[in-house]
Amino acid sequence: MDSFRWLLLLLLLGAFSIVRLVRAQDQQGFISLDCGLPITELSPYTESFTELRFSSDATFIKTGKSGKIQANLVDEYLKPYTSLRYFPEERRNCYSLSVDKNRKYLIRAGFVYGNYDGLNSNPEFDLHLGPNLWATIDFHNFVNGTMVEIIHTTTSNLLQVCLVKTGTTTPLISALELRPLDNDSYSTKSDSLRLFARIYLNETEGYLRQWLIQRVPNRYPDDAYDRRWLNFFLKSWSQISTTLEVSNDNDYDPPKKALAAAATPSNASGPLTISWTPANPGDQYYLYSHFAEIQDLQDNDTREFDLLWNGVVSTETIIPSKLEINTLLDTPPETCGDERCRYQLIKTSRSTLPPLLNALEIYTVIKFPQSETNENDVVAIKNIEGAYELSRITWQGDPCVPQQYAWDGLNCSNTESSTPPRITSLNLSSAGLTGTIAAAIQNLTKLEKLDLSNNKLTGVLPEFLVQMKSLVNINLSGNDLYGHIPQALRRKGLELLVDGNPRLCLSGSCIKDSNKKLIVIVVVSVAAVVISVVVLVLVLVLKKKKSSSVEALQLPPSTPMVNDAYANSSEPSIEMKKRRFTYSEVMKMTNNIQRVVGEGGFGVVSHGTLNGSEQVAVKILSQSSSQGYKHFKAEIDLLLRVHHTNLVSLVGYCDEGDHLALIYEFMPNGDLRQHLSGKRGGSFISWANRLRIALEAALGLEYLHFGCTPPIVHRDIKTTNILLDEQLKAKLADFGLSRSFPVGGETHVSTVVAGTPGYLDPEYYRTSRLGEKSDVYSFGIVLLEMITNQPVIDQSRQKSHITQWVGFMLNRGDITKIMDPNLHKDYESRSVWRAIELAMSCVNPSSVNRPNMSQVANELKECLVPEKSKNMDSQSSHEVSMSFDTGILPRAR
Ligand SMILES: *[C@@H]1O[C@H](CO)[C@@H](O)[C@H](O)[C@H]1NC(C)=O
Ligand SMILES: *[C@@H]1O[C@H](CO)[C@@H](O)[C@H](O)[C@H]1NC(C)=O
Ligand SMILES: *[C@@H]1O[C@H](CO)[C@@H](O)[C@H](O)[C@H]1NC(C)=O
Ligand SMILES: *[C@@H]1O[C@H](CO)[C@@H](O)[C@H](O)[C@H]1NC(C)=O
Ligand SMILES: *[C@@H]1O[C@H](CO)[C@@H](O)[C@H](O)[C@H]1NC(C)=O
Ligand SMILES: *[C@@H]1O[C@H](CO)[C@@H](O)[C@H](O)[C@H]1NC(C)=O
Ligand SMILES: *[C@@H]1O[C@H](CO)[C@@H](O)[C@H](O)[C@H]1NC(C)=O
Ligand SMILES: *[C@@H]1O[C@H](CO)[C@@H](O)[C@H](O)[C@H]1NC(C)=O
Ligand SMILES: *[C@@H]1O[C@H](CO)[C@@H](O)[C@H](O)[C@H]1NC(C)=O
Repeated sequence: MDSFRWLLLLLLLGAFSIVRLVRAQDQQGFISLDCGLPITELSPYTESFTELRFSSDATFIKTGKSGKIQANLVDEYLKPYTSLRYFPEERRNCYSLSVDKNRKYLIRAGFVYGNYDGLNSNPEFDLHLGPNLWATIDFHNFVNGTMVEIIHTTTSNLLQVCLVKTGTTTPLISALELRPLDNDSYSTKSDSLRLFARIYLNETEGYLRQWLIQRVPNRYPDDAYDRRWLNFFLKSWSQISTTLEVSNDNDYDPPKKALAAAATPSNASGPLTISWTPANPGDQYYLYSHFAEIQDLQDNDTREFDLLWNGVVSTETIIPSKLEINTLLDTPPETCGDERCRYQLIKTSRSTLPPLLNALEIYTVIKFPQSETNENDVVAIKNIEGAYELSRITWQGDPCVPQQYAWDGLNCSNTESSTPPRITSLNLSSAGLTGTIAAAIQNLTKLEKLDLSNNKLTGVLPEFLVQMKSLVNINLSGNDLYGHIPQALRRKGLELLVDGNPRLCLSGSCIKDSNKKLIVIVVVSVAAVVISVVVLVLVLVLKKKKSSSVEALQLPPSTPMVNDAYANSSEPSIEMKKRRFTYSEVMKMTNNIQRVVGEGGFGVVSHGTLNGSEQVAVKILSQSSSQGYKHFKAEIDLLLRVHHTNLVSLVGYCDEGDHLALIYEFMPNGDLRQHLSGKRGGSFISWANRLRIALEAALGLEYLHFGCTPPIVHRDIKTTNILLDEQLKAKLADFGLSRSFPVGGETHVSTVVAGTPGYLDPEYYRTSRLGEKSDVYSFGIVLLEMITNQPVIDQSRQKSHITQWVGFMLNRGDITKIMDPNLHKDYESRSVWRAIELAMSCVNPSSVNRPNMSQVANELKECLVPEKSKNMDSQSSHEVSMSFDTGILPRAR
């Protein structure tokens, strides 16, 4: 009987299961994707049995649809395996994961069909790692699902895992997991390792799951690398075990539990044998045996034994150390030829005790002969894709190989060899390209043919084309390029086609383009690209328009403005008249503007006192301010209309001839940014107080969105616009609709955007369609700032925008590095995770996927619950008590 066959079946069939509830350790570097997770569900989430953090796969792949296994099967699988992504259309569908180059990873993909499509079929398809075949998945063999696992060292910063349609059935995937391993473990000559068996020798099965009799592999968090271990035991063996702790401290770190038991042969003088028939005669095996002495030996006892591979001693004599792991790598790789493979441990003649084995891992060599495309070419082509916002469905996975799945529009060299392929031609003819000739093209250093004809490209012919000596053909016909053709581009051996560019000077004199036009073109082309760049442009544009918002201390930083809907009233309302002050009253109030606390484009802000006691902030509009009188009045009307405890209120105004002033309630504790940065002195705000402040700001915003008719979009939510009163209660300032203004006067720039770089909703920027969800985006950024205390934009950081950075760190499972160090880990991680999840859902690039402010406020209340109970326990709160009962908040309609 093939003793190993059933073990393999178990490994493959019973692979989905559960582990004891243990608190999650850090999952540094783990990537855990729940494929096809519906967008209505929270991502990331914590899988409750393993405490692994799973995220949706949506941002790592372009194609595929979400599916769910049949309802009656849902309870049989861990949550990540209940949803799946299936690929009805494309032949090759690739996940693109960012990883550390030259790092060893355990990579595991899980597949559960679960009759998600009601067809009761057995799909069959291929799985590729980069350009190479990794496995063929055939559900005929594994109706209950299967899992494949390899140990692989990455060759670039990008790992592509592709599902490839090979017949008529539809590929699918349920989960994809990456675990970084110790570089010094599982060393091989050069190849990757495919898991064959990973066992610990314990008679008793692992945990049984409720009614479902399934073997449950031991995995994370018992195993720091989330490897799955199955128990395995033969009748001819005896069990020994210990209750003492066994040290697992070596490069492999197998779970301590797996080491606490061991098998010995019942016939003490006979061998301990594990044998199997290889699937292919040529299979090469790597075996990692884990030993530890777990018996108390008498003085006259010795245990030493040899390892035999197919009857031949293949290592030095083994003497296991007491309660300490010893991992033995057999001289690899081993083959068995046509024979059965036999792994045996046999005691030496001087040994008084039989051999023992605690745990064993067996891998087969898997070869990946095809090199990935040259890494710089991959980066360059992806940058080109980004610059032109191309969303070509075949542009997934490796650009050049395998050749039959190469990206359309590319030709490459070396597609059949072990040297990395290079991109030799790029054809983006008639692809609707706009903007200039992308600079990233210069990094395709082996490019011979470049066809960008029949697009809407503009700008001048870039200098870098001259430097690209590999180029033989350039076709730029049918665009809107202008300027001169550099003389150097008229070199021999280079065919340059530029007809159909009416503004391009072929020879002689041309009208010089003005600088202004150039700037506009740069702005337009860049605007088509990525958020971080958008942000920079905005900085420039905002600067140019001299409308920078005022970073006022203790005051609403910039003057709220109103949209035209409010700008038509001609006479001040009665309400307005009541709060009207004369200019001399304003001067008295401010003691002739004695204490200026802020200054900005619209004038100065002064501290003031009303009726001898009430502190106010007075914003005095300078006469040169570009704001019109009509807007000023309408703004007052609006501000007098909105009342909410979490909005800075307008006390009154002055409108006397040329003298215009706004009088706000005074906020003695400045703005949230100052508190986060520690500029206000004193202690940093605790996590609980941050949540409370966030909640209060959210309630203010909820009021603007839902409590006002018509709804008001704030448009400039940021930490400097969240002010704190003497109780540190948060109030939103500058909530009067910062008015949009056109960028330049050029007709082709239709975008009108307002807001602060970094906080600006990218969708709003792209579409110019403004809605409440744009505030939700900005609020998400504020939340991320409160959680991380990181700058919103930091060009020196690996990921410059805070959302990219947090996303990046989350994918590495690195929560402690995300959190503001000033919090000194004084927070409930449950609460923190919820807050991060919330913030990330707020900054979803697509506004429909963001929650609304009522949902945000509710979620923040939930985040506060664990913190609140914690604070009650520890009595540590010398800070302000929390008040978040919405029942008492006014909700004017
Ligand atoms: C593994 O090797 C890579 C490349 O050599 C290196 O960057 C990384 O720091 C190493 N990791 C460990 C844990 O040694
Ligand atoms: C699939 O799972 C069911 C229920 O757990 C079990 O009864 C059945 O034997 C399994 N099928 C195979 C082929 O293992
Ligand atoms: C074998 O595994 C079972 C279940 O995990 C465990 O309860 C038992 O203690 C283990 N046996 C030994 C001898 O360690
Ligand atoms: C135990 O093993 C030894 C060596 O293989 C063998 O000679 C002996 O017959 C075995 N004893 C029993 C009871 O099987
Ligand atoms: C070792 O000593 C113990 C008593 O201390 C005795 O029972 C046992 O038989 C001895 N074993 C050997 C192999 O001599
Ligand atoms: C790529 O090579 C094929 C075959 O040589 C050719 O037909 C095709 O036009 C080339 N494509 C580009 C973009 O150069
Ligand atoms: C580029 O692609 C277009 C169609 O998309 C084709 O007509 C043209 O011949 C291609 N150019 C080259 C150089 O292959
Ligand atoms: C070209 O590649 C270099 C190094 O790989 C990189 O620093 C540079 O930013 C790239 N240029 C463009 C325009 O993408
Ligand atoms: C250059 O592009 C134009 C427009 O697409 C096309 O008509 C022409 O044949 C192309 N020339 C070459 C040599 O590919």
